[in-house]
Amino acid sequence: LKKRDAVAILLAGRALAPAKAEGRGAAAANIALCKYWGKRNEELNLPITSSLSVSLGELGTRTRILPCAGRDEVALNGQPVAARSKFATRLSSFLDLFRPAAEFRFRVETDNSIPTAAGLASSASGFAALVLALNDLFGWGLDPRSLSILARLGSGSAARSIFDGFVEWHAGAAADGMDSFAEPLPYEWPDLRMGLLVVSSEAKPVGSREAMRRTRRTSVLYEAWPIKVAHDLVVIKDALREGDFDLLGRVAESNALAMHATGLAAWPPVLYWRPATVAQMHRVWEVRDRGLRVYFTMDAGPNVKLLFPREEEPSVRESFPDVQVVAPFGPEAG
Ligand code: DP6
Repeated sequence: LKKRDAVAILLAGRALAPAKAEGRGAAAANIALCKYWGKRNEELNLPITSSLSVSLGELGTRTRILPCAGRDEVALNGQPVAARSKFATRLSSFLDLFRPAAEFRFRVETDNSIPTAAGLASSASGFAALVLALNDLFGWGLDPRSLSILARLGSGSAARSIFDGFVEWHAGAAADGMDSFAEPLPYEWPDLRMGLLVVSSEAKPVGSREAMRRTRRTSVLYEAWPIKVAHDLVVIKDALREGDFDLLGRVAESNALAMHATGLAAWPPVLYWRPATVAQMHRVWEVRDRGLRVYFTMDAGPNVKLLFPREEEPSVRESFPDVQVVAPFGPEAG
């Protein structure tokens, strides 16, 4: 099955004809507390395991899409993006799935409120916002589940960015991926805070797609990963239900470390940490030993993301002066 076939199933005969002059969509970035790491189908971004994330509220992507003539045009934060760039080619090949006619071209204007230097993957909120904008432009009226599946075809983690708050992406088992979508979980933690620590904004040496593939194929530790995830998902959901922040933090940190450990045992090895990454991890452990309730998680890059409850914010800022604090459920909510 190709992406195109999955799109045909989801659109179920809906027209590829603009219903209005332009479409708009907005989606939050998300950070996984239990990671998506490894695909059972690379064409459709079907994961080996389920995963669970929290969306970052105001931090994310807003996208406007409209038909245009000549060639696809892409603008990012108000600046034109070169057609040959990785960013524009990945976007255009996704848009190929939705062209009403072969010569049809799109103009895409996308704005990220995530500071690019924060090293936060923008592909999740980017593809989610793009799919919402396409749904608006074409007037499909798709349900959130279908939108999540469409976003997944652009980037796996984008399936989760369709929703706010805590979100679970079900791995599913179907070959066509129709049961692999995200859903919001019914928990709100207005006091939850995330802290972004930028260690390096250099391009990462290995993209997550290649890192996942390599790890799945060559790391002897990968076979433990689905076992770890099955356990962590249960415990994270217990923690969410009970409102147990420390349990959530412990599992999220342990899950991230286990994900990075699978990469270390791959060949060629995958190691995203820089010396400063390790220094920040030690710093978290030090201040936690002194009683601060702070945990970390990390994705396919060197940057560290902190998890802490609202009341720890002054102490966290004192220990990590460069931290950028995010309130996933809204700053005024707590
Ligand atoms: C480490 O969703 O970027 O951030 O499906 O190939 O686009 P593709 O991968 P992507 O991978 C995200 C990996 C992660 C963990 C996570 O977000 O769950």
